[in-house]
Amino acid sequence: MALSHLLLSLLAISTSVFAQSSTTYTDPDNGITFQGYTDTTTDVTIGLVFPEGSDSNDEFIGEIVSPLTNQWVGVCLGGTMLDNLLLVAWPYEDTVVYSPRYATSYSLPALYEGPTITSLESTSVNSTYWKWVFRCENCTTWTGGSINLTSTASPLAWALSNTTVDDPADPDSAFAKHTNDGSFEEDFYAAQSAYYFNWA
Ligand code: HEM
Ligand SMILES: *[C@@H]1O[C@H](CO)[C@@H](O)[C@H](O)[C@H]1NC(C)=O
Ligand SMILES: *[C@@H]1O[C@H](CO)[C@@H](O)[C@H](O)[C@H]1NC(C)=O
Ligand SMILES: *[C@@H]1O[C@H](CO)[C@@H](O)[C@H](O)[C@H]1NC(C)=O
Ligand SMILES: *[C@@H]1O[C@H](CO)[C@@H](O)[C@H](O)[C@H]1NC(C)=O
Repeated sequence: MALSHLLLSLLAISTSVFAQSSTTYTDPDNGITFQGYTDTTTDVTIGLVFPEGSDSNDEFIGEIVSPLTNQWVGVCLGGTMLDNLLLVAWPYEDTVVYSPRYATSYSLPALYEGPTITSLESTSVNSTYWKWVFRCENCTTWTGGSINLTSTASPLAWALSNTTVDDPADPDSAFAKHTNDGSFEEDFYAAQSAYYFNWA
């Protein structure tokens, strides 16, 4: 094998090894099996699960689990900040306030109308972590984008801040730019479960 070919092969292998990909895990608190990822730097876990077998379903169950040091966490369902449905959440007293947002420029995203979001019972705040578990209906298609349920690897991005939002009681609160952001490859195909409606 020519040296250049060998180097290219090694590069391909290392890229696939180091790509951050979702895995299947079951949250012991609610018994829900998610397809998701834990970012080791910020200790934030993001997981999603969809109804099985039909692209016509417009909903999913998601969770964000975060140390209290992260004062808000947002998920970009289309993989980037701009022109995608963003789900932002933060702890407030003994619960979690959530806020669907949308940004067309790199500034404070506006509230986004359309999704029907319900927090599920296992949503919690304790002395170290907050956890938002939710059903999101009308959430797989948005202005200018959608989730591809046949894709085994599509980027799912996140952002968070260690600074509190201005008015934590208000879903429409302003907040400052993220202190951390990143993304991983979500296996949407594997994120579909026959048990979905038992959990929803
Ligand atoms: C006041 C609110 C916000 C401001 C001012 C802001 C600003 C910016 C800016 C300037 C960038 C470009 C790269 C950089 O400078 O780091 C960026 C990138 C990014 N932002 Fe935001 N952002 C805000 C809120 C959000 C929210 C709520 C999310 C997620 C729900 C988010 C997700 C991202 C991601 C994933 C990137 C990486 C590059 C990209 O996706 O385009 N941002 N943001
Ligand atoms: C679903 O969301 C879209 C925005 O993405 C909105 O225009 C539409 O009215 C919503 N549909 C329902 C039934 O709420
Ligand atoms: C706090 O919540 C997190 C996330 O659900 C959980 O992993 C942890 O065990 C909980 N800690 C306590 C002390 O209950
Ligand atoms: C969805 O993902 C599948 C598998 O990667 C791909 O073949 C298809 O072109 C994608 N569909 C769209 C609309 O991007
Ligand atoms: C918040 O994050 C920024 C950027 O990573 C860092 O410089 C700052 O020290 C952090 N503040 C706190 C209170 O952890």
